[in-house]
Amino acid sequence: AGLAGCGRPVDGPGTGSLLTSSLPLPERFRTPLPIPPVARPVLTNSAGDHIVLTQRVADAHLLPGVTTQIWGYDGIFPGPIIRARRGRPLTVTMRNQLPVPTSTHLHGGIVPADSDGFPLDLITPAGYSPAPPVQHGTGARVHEVSRDYRYPMDQRAGLLWYHDHRMDFTAPQVWRGLAGMMIVSDDEEDALPLPRGDRELPLLICDRAFEADGSLRYPLRDMAMHHPGADGDFLSGIFGDVILVNGAAWPRHEVANVRYRLRLVNGSNARRYRLGLSPGTDLIQIGTDDGLLAAPVMHREIVLSPGERCDVLVDFSAYPIGSEVTLTNTLGTGPAAEIMRFAVTRSATDDTRVPPKLADVPVLERSEAVEVRQFDFRFGAGRWQINNQPYDPAGSVAAPRLGTVELWRFTSDFHHPVHVHLGHFQVLSRNGRDPDPWEGGWKDTVDVRPYEAVEVLVKFAGYRGRYMLHCHNLEHEDMAMMANFDVV
Ligand code: C2O
Ligand code: CU
Repeated sequence: AGLAGCGRPVDGPGTGSLLTSSLPLPERFRTPLPIPPVARPVLTNSAGDHIVLTQRVADAHLLPGVTTQIWGYDGIFPGPIIRARRGRPLTVTMRNQLPVPTSTHLHGGIVPADSDGFPLDLITPAGYSPAPPVQHGTGARVHEVSRDYRYPMDQRAGLLWYHDHRMDFTAPQVWRGLAGMMIVSDDEEDALPLPRGDRELPLLICDRAFEADGSLRYPLRDMAMHHPGADGDFLSGIFGDVILVNGAAWPRHEVANVRYRLRLVNGSNARRYRLGLSPGTDLIQIGTDDGLLAAPVMHREIVLSPGERCDVLVDFSAYPIGSEVTLTNTLGTGPAAEIMRFAVTRSATDDTRVPPKLADVPVLERSEAVEVRQFDFRFGAGRWQINNQPYDPAGSVAAPRLGTVELWRFTSDFHHPVHVHLGHFQVLSRNGRDPDPWEGGWKDTVDVRPYEAVEVLVKFAGYRGRYMLHCHNLEHEDMAMMANFDVV
C-alpha cells in the first residue's frame, strides 16, 4: 500500500494502493481462458458496418463459483470484440441501461471529436435526473438513452480498446467492467504470414479486488452520488490482488507447439506489469499501441503501463509437449507476480513465419516538430494536475495544427501513463536517452515514470476539434489530471 516512487526514479508496479479481497483467492491456472465473442453487425453494406451494444448491469463469473455483478457492454466483461477494417466506416450505437450516465472513448481511435467520448458528452439513462449540466462551448452534450458513435476507420491495423470516459467516474466505471477490445485489420497486415484464428489471442489484463459476497471492491461505494471534494476521493490509484485475463482470474490456455500471436492490453486502472514467460523464451514483439512495428524486436520482458498495448509472437515449439509456461509479472508480488498459464499439450504444423519486415513505419524526426510543448504531471493542491492546473472542461491548453507534428515533453513526480487522444506519437527520448526497447512504432500512451522527462513526436492527423490528454492511471484521471487541446 501507499505511494510508490517518492523522490527517485523507480520501476515499481505503479502509483497506487492495494485493495485486498475479503474472500479466498481461487487456485490459479484452473479456469479456461475466455475469449470475448465478436460483436455481430446488425447491418453491413457498402457504407460500412453498424454495431449495437447495450451497456447494462449483469452477473458475471470472474472467480470460479462466485457471482459478481458487473456493468458490461452487452452485459459481459470484457465487452464484445469489435472487428473493424481499415477504410470501412463503423457506426456503434451505444444504449445505456445503467443507472448512471456514460461516455465511450475508443482508445487509439482516430475519430471526429463528437465521437471521441468527451467526458461531458454523455448518454443518460432513461428518466435520469437531475440532467447533467450542459456548459456551452465545452463539448458537453446530453443524449438520452442511446447515441451513435461514428468511427471512420481511416487508420492502420492495430489493437484498440473502448472504455468508459465519464467525467469524474472513469475509474469506477471501468473497474465495474466497461471495457472491451477492437481489432482493426488492413491489407498490409493480412499479407503477412502471422498466426491467425485460434492462434491469435486478444488478452485484456487487469486487476480487481472482491468483497466477501463476491461483489467488486472499490473505495467509492456510492458512485452515483460521488462528487469531487466528497469524502474519500483522494486516491493515488487502485490495485487489486486478483489478476484477470479476459475477465477470468489467472486462467489457463492449452496451446499447440507452434507460434501464437498474443495481443495484450493493460486494462488496469493503475497497475503496471513487466511481462515475461517462465520458463523463459523470447517475446517477439511485432507491434505496439497503434499497429505493427517496422521490424520484429526480441525481448525477455516488456513493461506495459495502463492503457498500453503490445503485440507479440511466442513460439511454443521452444517447449516440449507437456510443458506449463507461465506469463509472469516481475513487478508484482505474491499472486500478482503471475498472470496466466499456457499448457503446451499437442503438436501441430506451423506455416507462419516471423517476417523480417513487418510494415512501413515512417520515422518522425525531431526537426519535423513545428512546436514544442511541455506538460508536467504532478500532484498539487490536493489533486493530480497537469502544469499545475486541474482539469477544466471549458479550457484548452494547446492548439496544434491539423497535419503537423509537435514535440511534447512529459515530466512527472510519480508513475503517470500519459495518453493523448487522436494524435498518435513516436517516443523520442527518455531522460535524454533512447526510449525503452519495446516502445517503438506508433503509440498513443507512454509510461512516464517518477522524475522522468519523456519526449514524444505527436502527429495530428485526422480531424479538427477538441480532444484531450490525460494520465491513464484512471484514479488520477478522475482527480483532474486531464487537459483539453484543440486541433485547428
Ligand atoms: Cu483510454 Cu482518454 O482514455
Ligand atoms: Cu497519473
